[in-house]
Amino acid sequence: MDLRHAESLLAFWADAGVDSLYAEGPCDRTAARPQARVTATAAIGGDPPPAFDLEQARMAAAAAADLNALAAAIAAFEGCGLITQGARQAVCWRGSETAEVMIIGEAPGADEDAAGLPFIGRAGKLLDRMIAAAQLADRVLITNTVFWRPPGNRTPTPEEQQACAPFLERAISLVAPKLILCVGAASARSVLKLTGGILALRGQWREWRAVDGDLAIPALATLHPAFLLRQPSAKKQAWVDFLAVRVRLDGLDSYM
Ligand code: URA
Repeated sequence: MDLRHAESLLAFWADAGVDSLYAEGPCDRTAARPQARVTATAAIGGDPPPAFDLEQARMAAAAAADLNALAAAIAAFEGCGLITQGARQAVCWRGSETAEVMIIGEAPGADEDAAGLPFIGRAGKLLDRMIAAAQLADRVLITNTVFWRPPGNRTPTPEEQQACAPFLERAISLVAPKLILCVGAASARSVLKLTGGILALRGQWREWRAVDGDLAIPALATLHPAFLLRQPSAKKQAWVDFLAVRVRLDGLDSYM
């Protein structure tokens, strides 16, 4: 089959919603790549070392003086397990670098992986409509808990989120938004260290605190737009949360 036919066939499958292929048996795709760096820190008390180098991530993130440098540091980072699982590129953020609100989703999907920008697929379009309706356009920066697409759009593991966390934390510190909005349970759990279901967690103001430093930012968890696409009746709860962000941001008595 020549390249044109192969592209046409792949486009046909992509239109039909098939964006991942799995072989029957496992295949070690890391063998052909430079080894992802594994922590050199000795395991304490016999615990296995983490599968990523947290210190390396912290140092690379801390050295970035602005968002451009941070995006370059993320692209050069090899310590997140997602990198060797089929992601095409790092997906960092989009929006205003001086955003008043940072919106943190779960993980890039297929559209985001292809374009290198977060929340540009169907869920992203709904998110954009909610942002615009709450009059928050141009006042947000949108990112995720991890910067690479998990295969098959699975939820990122806590280890994958931990490997990316120093970069996310540095992005928050560089932007220093007035408010943080976590969309979806995976974001609320990773960023705000909450446990439980998102329907119970949403809508209550909490505080995000930097691990190193004294930055503290009010944060709210809400429903993920992909969930809202599957369950449109829940949109009113997410809308209440978006309005709560707008009211708090602008010191309004209530939303008109
Ligand atoms: N869902 C997310 O959580 N993030 C994206 O970037 C896209 C879909």
